[in-house]
Amino acid sequence: MKKIEVIFRPEKLEPLKEKLLEAGIQGVTIFQVSGCGNQHGWIAYHRGNEVMMNTLPKVYLMTVVRDDEVEHTLHLIKEIVYTGNVGDGKIFISTVDECIRIRTDETGDTAL
Ligand SMILES: Nc1ncnc2c1ncn2[C@@H]1O[C@H](COP(=O)(O)OP(=O)(O)OP(=O)(O)O)[C@@H](O)[C@H]1O
Ligand SMILES: [Mg+2]
Repeated sequence: MKKIEVIFRPEKLEPLKEKLLEAGIQGVTIFQVSGCGNQHGWIAYHRGNEVMMNTLPKVYLMTVVRDDEVEHTLHLIKEIVYTGNVGDGKIFISTVDECIRIRTDETGDTAL
């Protein structure tokens, strides 16, 4: 199982949700966040105090998928969130050791 975390432009949330729903995604977790990448963020120090970190509103979407679904899922996501302009966002992919469906105590892929 892999965890796919996507941080992207808020205006892409609805089209991305629609796309993932169509594709039969198992589940998603979404947060409204604010953050910065390499252009917009910095911390300045004034007399020892942090005075500024510029952040922009973004959406964070997390989904855990089977290993064999990763490539397809990434393709769908990139198709929607890409504009080619700075601030398009980031995708992080990591391995998930286990998943448990609390109701049934199923584990692994079938619990997703
Ligand atoms: N290394 C990182 N770790 C955690 N979150 C990040 C990281 N880089 C970017 N983010 C998150 O992704 C959002 C979008 O980042 P952004 O697309 O501006 O990245 P970038 O590296 O500056 O790329 P670009 O040059 O396309 O702007 C940020 O607002 C932040 O929430
Ligand atoms: Mg940036």
